[in-house]
This record gives sequence, structure tokens and C-alpha cells, in this order.
Amino acid sequence: MKIKILSLLALAALLVVSACKDDQGPSGCNCTENDLIEAVYDPQPIELDYPERFPKPIIPEDNPMTAAGVALGRNLFYDPILSSDSTMSCASCHNPQLSFTDGQANSEGVLGMRGKRSSMAIFNLAFNANGFFWDGRAATLEAQALAPVEDHLELNESWDNVEEKLRQHPEYPALFRQAFGIERKSELTRELAVKAIAQFERTLISYNSRFDKVVWEQQGWPTDAEQRGRDLFFVEFATNTNDHPGCSHCHGSALFTENRYFNNGISNVNDLNGFPDKGLGGITGNIYDNGKFRAPSLRNIELTAPYMHDGRFNTLEEVLDHYATGGHGVINEDANIQPFTLTEQNKQDLISFLKMLTDTTYINNPAFQNPFE
Ligand code: HEC
Ligand code: HEC
Repeated sequence: MKIKILSLLALAALLVVSACKDDQGPSGCNCTENDLIEAVYDPQPIELDYPERFPKPIIPEDNPMTAAGVALGRNLFYDPILSSDSTMSCASCHNPQLSFTDGQANSEGVLGMRGKRSSMAIFNLAFNANGFFWDGRAATLEAQALAPVEDHLELNESWDNVEEKLRQHPEYPALFRQAFGIERKSELTRELAVKAIAQFERTLISYNSRFDKVVWEQQGWPTDAEQRGRDLFFVEFATNTNDHPGCSHCHGSALFTENRYFNNGISNVNDLNGFPDKGLGGITGNIYDNGKFRAPSLRNIELTAPYMHDGRFNTLEEVLDHYATGGHGVINEDANIQPFTLTEQNKQDLISFLKMLTDTTYINNPAFQNPFE
């Protein structure tokens, strides 16, 4: 008898759930109430923490920063609920200890297949007005965050499913209400999910490296090697203007990038159609853009090997050996890719300087770590 009652109850519960799914159950099913989210909406605006020497952050008017939005975005970033088999999250390829890269030449997705590109570091993205991804194909962080979920080589899940999983989840509906003021589970959408992820990403700001401390906060002194490396890196300190590495032409400014696109000469191809990955040209359709990629920031570069869009160089030594050759001379190679003298001493000096850009307070910041651990 008891069992029968229980199973009847279970059946009734099932009916309610399935009826509520399409929102038009038989009379007696209070679907509206089931859909309502119980939580207080009291958004607390937050300001980003960044130094004056950085440009103004880009925050879309329709996605203002709030404490609850950032907290939700952090959860989503680390939650494997975004993948088809619940094994991977954004953080699987963007590990904070590696400046949010994955240490791989090309990253493996849930299906065990690899894409053709290397994962990118995540920091100071709030200051980039010039497109995301190696080829700049996403204009905003919100647009960027839509891509990995449905990418078969990454999380391989449909947003329809993700929305459904989040709506059914015991906690996410309340978190979405706290972040965006929605009243019903049915209002929980992918657009809000990517807004939250973008808010979290905008807080990921790195400006506390040894370089920042020595140069901007007058804390301590550079070593002789670091000082010599700095003089090689920055064009303005070049003593011989015909023979210098010229790195700051493309990795300059307080961000160590201006987010511009170049062919930096790594590919040995016969003509502009020969690039195995067209990069910017694949997006603009302009053949002259083939083989151009975004010059990334060199902050935290010590942590993000292997290097370049396809992870072709394993070490900074290999990167410098490449630049010193002056590239392969493909017609759209940037004019600032010129051969220069790279003695063993120059090499070690430049690397000492690049390692000054490592920001351990950034990678260890408790606010940026996995909230589920
Ligand atoms: C399977 C590995 C993988 C997963 C999972 C993944 N990414 Fe990425 N991410 C990459 C790769 C590879 C690139 C570069 C792709 C390209 O340029 O085409 C990238 C690029 C990015 C960029 C661009 C950074 C820049 O400077 O332009 C951001 C931001 C980013 N990912 C965030 C995310 C978020 C948010 C998620 C989760 C929704 C995520 N990623 C999931 C591998 C991954
Ligand atoms: C003409 C512009 C230009 C100059 C000059 C230049 N770079 Fe680059 N750099 C780029 C571009 C573009 C990329 C990305 C290319 C790619 O992935 O295909 C890049 C990538 C890199 C990377 C790999 C970044 C990563 O996240 O994988 C390092 C390291 C680097 N450059 C260091 C240097 C150093 C050191 C110098 C000076 C010796 C220098 N660059 C000079 C444009 C330039």
C-alpha cells in the first residue's frame, strides 16, 4: 500500500515536471509558481582595479559590472556543466596557474580531438578594443564566450541543452536572478550566461609584475641583465638603430600589446595562399591579411609556452632564434621583422627582461581561482 502511494506521488510529480516544461500543464499544475525564482535582486556595482597607465576598460552599456554578475561568471567559467559530457570547463584550457592557458600546442576538447590553434592567455582583456581570438573574429568578450560551448573541438554542447541544465539546477536560477534580476527560470538564457562570463573575465587584470614594481612603483632595482634586456626590447633605447630586436614595435605600451595584427615571419610559405592557417585573412577575406595574427601581450609570457598561434616554439630561446633570423620574407611580413645580432648574452638578457613580466599575484589571486575547490 505504502509503495503504491509513493509511486503515485512520483507519477504526479513527473506529470507536474513534464507539464511545466512546455508551460501549459493540465489544470492543477501551478506552472507559473514553479518557474518563479526565489532570491533577492540587489545588484552591487563594482569598479575594476587597474593602474592609471592602462587605457580605459571597455564595458558594454548593456552589461554593467556587478558583484553578483562576476561571481556567477566565475562559477560558469569553472563549471563542466557547459560541456556535453560534464568533463570540461573553460578552465580546462585556461588554467590560472599558466596565466589561463593549457600548456599545449593545440588544445584537446571533450571528443579528444584537437583544434589547430593554441589556447590563449586570459588577462587584461577588458582593455582590448581590437577583436578576440588569434584572428580577431569575435568583437566582444560576450560574443567570444558563445563560441567554445558549441565548438565540436571544445565543449561540444548545444546552448539549448546548457540553458535547460542551468534552469533545472538547484542553484543557478537564483544566481542568475541575483546577477540580472530575471524573475523566471524560463528567462535564463545563453545571452545572460555569456554576459556573466564576460564580467568575470573583465576582472582578470594583471599589472603587478616585477617590472611594474621596479619601473612604476620604484620598488627595488633591475638586475644588470634585466636592464640590458629592457634596452634591447624597447626601440627607444636602441643604441644601434640598424641592428636591434625591435620587439616594442609590436608588443609595446603598458599592456605589452596594442592588439594589432601582423605577419611576424614565422611561416615559410611560397606565396600569400600558402599559409596553412590564414589567420586574419580568413576573417577579412583580404589575401594580404593571410598569415597575420594578433600580437599578444608579453606579460606572463614565461608561463604560457608553447608559443605562437600553433604552439610551434617550445621555449623563449626558440622564439628569439626565430626573430633574429628576420623571418622568411613572405611579401606581407611586417617591415619591423629584421635580422639582428643575437649573442648568447643578448638572448639571456632579453629572457631575463621577459621574465620580469611574470605576475604571480595575478595567477594566485584567490578571487580568480576555481570556486568549487
Ligand atoms: C578545448 C580548449 C578550450 C576550451 C574548453 C575553451 N577555450 Fe578559450 N581558447 C582556446 C583556444 C584554442 C583559443 C584560441 C582560438 C582561436 O584563436 O581560434 C581560445 C581563446 C579564448 C579567448 C580569447 C582571448 C584573446 O585574447 O583573444 C577567450 C577570452 C577564451 N578563449 C575564453 C574561453 C571561455 C570563456 C571558455 C568557456 C566558455 C573557453 N575559452 C573554453 C581553447 C579553449
Ligand atoms: C612585427 C611585429 C612584431 C615584432 C617586431 C615582434 N613580434 Fe612577437 N609577435 C608578433 C605576432 C603577430 C605574434 C603572434 C604570431 C602568431 O602566433 O602567429 C607574436 C608572438 C610572440 C610571442 C608568442 C606569444 C604567445 O602567446 O604565444 C612571443 C614570446 C613574442 N612574440 C616575443 C617577441 C619578442 C621578444 C620580440 C623582439 C625580439 C618580438 N616578439 C617582436 C608580432 C611581433
